[in-house]
Amino acid sequence: MKNLYLLDTQFVIDAVLEKEETKEHYLTILEYLLSNRLGYISTSSISKIEYLINKNNPGRNKILKELIQRLKIAKTPSYIDFHNKIAKKDFESHLLELSAMSIGALLITTNENLIDESKIAIHPDDFFDYVKQEKNKGIPFLDLKKVNYEYYPQLEKAFDDTFKSGWFILGNQVKLFEKEFAEYCGVKYCIGVGNGLDALILILEGYKKLGLLKNEDEVIVPANTFIATIIAISKANLTPILVEPDISTYNIDPNKIEEKITKKTKAILPVHLYGQCASMEQISEIAKKNHLLLIDDCAQAQGALYKGRRTGSLADASGFSFYPGKNLGALGDAGAITTNNEALSNITKSLRNYGSNLKYENKFKGVNSRLDEIQAAFLRQKLQKIDKENEKRREAANYYLRNIKNRAIILPEYREKFSHVWHVFAIRCKKRKELQLFLEQNRIGHVIHYPIPPHKQEAYAELNMQSYPITEMIHKEILSLPISSVLSESEMEYIVKKINGFGVK
Ligand SMILES: Cc1ncc(COP(=O)(O)O)c(C=O)c1O
Repeated sequence: MKNLYLLDTQFVIDAVLEKEETKEHYLTILEYLLSNRLGYISTSSISKIEYLINKNNPGRNKILKELIQRLKIAKTPSYIDFHNKIAKKDFESHLLELSAMSIGALLITTNENLIDESKIAIHPDDFFDYVKQEKNKGIPFLDLKKVNYEYYPQLEKAFDDTFKSGWFILGNQVKLFEKEFAEYCGVKYCIGVGNGLDALILILEGYKKLGLLKNEDEVIVPANTFIATIIAISKANLTPILVEPDISTYNIDPNKIEEKITKKTKAILPVHLYGQCASMEQISEIAKKNHLLLIDDCAQAQGALYKGRRTGSLADASGFSFYPGKNLGALGDAGAITTNNEALSNITKSLRNYGSNLKYENKFKGVNSRLDEIQAAFLRQKLQKIDKENEKRREAANYYLRNIKNRAIILPEYREKFSHVWHVFAIRCKKRKELQLFLEQNRIGHVIHYPIPPHKQEAYAELNMQSYPITEMIHKEILSLPISSVLSESEMEYIVKKINGFGVK
């Protein structure tokens, strides 16, 4: 994770007033922090800085205001340690230190006492040594801290709003998120649930209550999906029927679906894997022709547009995960169901809450899988920027696609620009073990999505003897490179340069 830096009051004053002896150095630090979006200032400093600048050089006030708008603001926490810290430090230093600690930042200060006493205070003269040390730490696969700090003030307000409401389960935030997410997806109903697995289970259970599915019915699903899709089918007492993916998209091969349809087949459950939409037009036609339900797993593809329609509106019902690492990620577990089917919406709404719509009246034996108020409040903030975040992921993916040139690496393909939101940038390599070692040596984070195919998992012993050669090959060769809305240009350049040198003697 990249270091964040909080600037102390005096540093900002000296930088704005361009004090002769520090001017050049401080401005270089500021430039670095601003261009990398790593610089913070504490709320407790702002009015003091404004007062002192105005006193010394009122003409500089405009420059200060511009600077404050470009820096990010860290709160001054209310959890002041009156007994211990204050005894040693002055109040202002303690508040600054707390402010930096609240975001896990280092505090840049010239206060020598503070540098001696505090584990997180550093002198501006040492700043670039820290940056250098950090570079040596390499590039994480996903810097979630940085992703979420982009929303810090909004998330803080969302927390405060929820906290002060005193209502933490199924309140206004969940209602508003459900409304906003349904609108975003272009459907009538959204039902907030505890996680993505439950979203799929509750859809399947809901269809059972509606009489459209029954125990042991077969559900067609891609063989190379994340295991949760298949677990959902099993947990609903239905039978997963695995279908090989198309090797060029890693999504279910629509040409291989019909051969798997039997009298027991009642639904198709495609997954928009890695962020790219499955071939929904062709799959919808197969579903219609064979009178099958179409349910899609949108856990990895929030915001993707398939022929102008968003995921969440492409099937009879859709399941979403908002696991923290997803393109739209909560700060904990969260999920949602979307549908245009009013009856399914009512039933899943009831099933997520013990099977009850009216307090203490239970129509079904439901579960407890409600979207938390606090997560809904956070998600409402992040939903506002999901399209921008997806665009940044597309830019990163395009950079990789244009610049990775190594015959040992198979790059991902995409069919239409907006139908891919690049949750994962998955490459393939026959010498994956060597590539993994090489990336580790060069400190480039990477993840295998996924190392063992579902039908080879111990949990699915009944499927272990089945053979899916394309799936098995993908699981042997696939590897995901870092991709996110906060991956910097220099990080991408470094990754590409290294990958292009892989295997080159
Ligand atoms: C394709 C897919 N389906 C379902 C899930 C399950 O979501 P959750 O972790 O929120 O239960 C995930 C999450 O990783 C996923 O990637």
